[in-house]
Amino acid sequence: MTTFGYAQSHDYDRRATRLLTGLYRRIAIDVDTRTTDSATVVDLGTGPGKLLSHLAGRRPDLHLHGIDRSPHMIDIARRTSAEQQIELAVADVTELPYREASIDFVVSSLSMHEWPDLPAAATELRRVLRPGGAAGLYDFRFARTRRIQRALGAVFGSVDTETVRLPRHPVALITCYRVTA
Ligand SMILES: C[S@@+](CC[C@H](N)C(=O)[O-])C[C@H]1O[C@@H](n2cnc3c(N)ncnc32)[C@H](O)[C@@H]1O
Repeated sequence: MTTFGYAQSHDYDRRATRLLTGLYRRIAIDVDTRTTDSATVVDLGTGPGKLLSHLAGRRPDLHLHGIDRSPHMIDIARRTSAEQQIELAVADVTELPYREASIDFVVSSLSMHEWPDLPAAATELRRVLRPGGAAGLYDFRFARTRRIQRALGAVFGSVDTETVRLPRHPVALITCYRVTA
C-alpha cells in the first residue's frame, strides 16, 4: 500500500502535470457528457486535484468535491484549485464525508489499485450515490481487475468496463469501470 508523504506527493504532482494531462482531459470530457446542470461530483483519491481543476474549467456549474487520505495531496490540491470552487477533504474511500444519496456522479483516476478494502469502498460508494447516480472509475488496465469487478459487482449488480486509449499512447493502459446506483 503506497502512502503519499510530503516528498512523494510533490514528486507525483510534478510527474502528473507532465504525463497525465491527456488522461485528465479525457476523463473531464466523460464527466461533462454524463452529468446534468449543477450536478454534485466527487473525485475519490483526487491526489493533487488536477482532474477536478480541469473539470472546474470545463463545467463551472458543477458542485465539485474531492477526497484523499493523504493530507499532503490535499494541501497540493488546495493550492492547485485556489481560484476555483472545489470542496476538498482528507478522508478514506471507506468513510466518505457525504450524506446518503447526496452525490450525482463519482469519478476516480489511478487510485483504486491502492484501496486496501475494495468491498468496503464499493459499499460506501453505493451509500453516497443518489438513486440513478453513476460512477466512472479509471485505473490501470492490469491492476486488480478481477477483484475490482467482483467488489463493484457484489454491490451494484452489473459493472461495465471500457478500455481507454489515450492520444499518442500506442498501448491502451487504462480501464474505466462504470456502475449505476
Ligand atoms: C496515483 S495517485 C492518483 C491521484 C489522482 N487521482 C490522479 O489521477 O492524478 C493515488 C491517490 O489515491 C489516494 N488513495 C489511495 N488509497 C486511498 C484511500 N483508501 N482513500 C482515499 N484516498 C486514497 C492516494 O493518497 C493518492 O493520492
